[in-house]
Amino acid sequence: MKPYHLYLKRLGFAVLTVSAFAWTGASAEIELTPHNLGSTGPGPNTFSGTAELCVFCHTPHGGDTSAAVPLWNRTLADPTTYTTYSTTSSTSIDGGVAPVGSVSIACLSCHDGTQAMDTLINTPGSGSVALVGTWTGADRPQGLADIGQNLQNDHPIGVQYGGGGINLTAPTGAPVDPDFVDPENRVINGTTVWWVDTEATPNGTREKTDMQLYTRTVAGVDFAGEPEPFVECGSCHDPHTSTATFLRIANTGSAVCLACHSK
Ligand code: HEC
Ligand code: HEC
Ligand code: HEC
Ligand code: HEC
Repeated sequence: MKPYHLYLKRLGFAVLTVSAFAWTGASAEIELTPHNLGSTGPGPNTFSGTAELCVFCHTPHGGDTSAAVPLWNRTLADPTTYTTYSTTSSTSIDGGVAPVGSVSIACLSCHDGTQAMDTLINTPGSGSVALVGTWTGADRPQGLADIGQNLQNDHPIGVQYGGGGINLTAPTGAPVDPDFVDPENRVINGTTVWWVDTEATPNGTREKTDMQLYTRTVAGVDFAGEPEPFVECGSCHDPHTSTATFLRIANTGSAVCLACHSK
């Protein structure tokens, strides 16, 4: 058996090698995850037609702007095709549930299993030429990763944080449901954004390892009709991270759940 320090040396070398070739932080992390769908990805689903990886989700020009997701390169579904978690799924839910939108509808543009993952608005190169290639693994997520369009068996998304009570008028208001951790907030470009700090001692700074809340303004009886924080897929997941199942923090001791729920 080799002494431990030799393993450490090797590990150090491996890390150096990786960082020497890593030209962006994003690609270094995402490259080795199931979200690299290009020919260099580790699988389970890879497409031989391009070695680009951001292109399956983002385009520098001509993205879909029907929901608030950055430079989105995929066609988003009609929100009414989804069935959401609601009072028919649970008698104890307090928050209002909005139509599927925000970052969640972007995740679902692959994870609802309705369209092939090489269906892009703007393909690599000049203009929009059809991509030619073959899939290793299916051309859409499989098993539990195929969430489908019925979201009643999934953690609620598009749901008001803490049962409501926090909005533009009362950005530091207490959640209606006291079983929730108070979120932090900050004004960015004139919009108030909220998040839940995950540090043992909250540092008041919005980081990727904090639970993100998404500002939406939704009309309807359950809503104040003004900007307020919602839980979406991206609250718990960061699609670029190398943490297992793309969670913002490891779920050891259910740390993800306890970040928001005071239980
Ligand atoms: C599987 C889909 C997917 C892939 C592949 C992907 N992204 Fe993203 N990206 C997203 C989503 C979804 C968001 C919005 C996240 C949010 O709102 O919390 C996002 C947000 C971003 C943002 C803004 C927020 C942030 O996290 O900094 C940047 C910048 C970004 N992506 C860059 C990239 C780059 C560069 C690549 C390729 C190396 C890439 N992304 C690959 C899905 C993807
Ligand atoms: C371009 C298509 C695409 C988009 C957009 C996309 N994913 Fe995925 N995702 C995949 C594929 C493909 C897999 C691997 C599927 C499988 O295991 O069958 C995957 C796997 C996952 C997994 C499981 C990873 C694991 O280790 O088992 C999670 C969690 C996930 N995605 C979350 C998200 C979230 C959250 C978003 C939006 C922020 C998102 N994805 C957007 C294609 C996508
Ligand atoms: C409240 C937190 C939370 C939200 C919101 C959430 N997820 Fe997850 N998700 C998790 C956790 C935790 C896991 C890991 C489950 C496990 O280990 O079995 C997970 C696992 C997954 C997986 C892997 C399949 C599995 O269950 O093992 C996929 C794919 C996924 N999520 C996609 C999504 C998408 C798409 C959305 C939005 C529609 C979403 N998630 C919203 C917490 C969340
Ligand atoms: C980003 C914050 C956040 C995280 C992280 C989170 N939740 Fe939630 N969760 C909520 C909100 C908000 C609701 C809606 C509560 C309501 O309106 O009654 C909810 C609802 C639920 C419900 C349904 C409650 C009901 O009355 O129907 C369950 C169960 C649940 N969460 C479990 C979990 C588990 C398990 C995890 C970890 C895997 C988790 N949550 C992570 C915010 C979060």
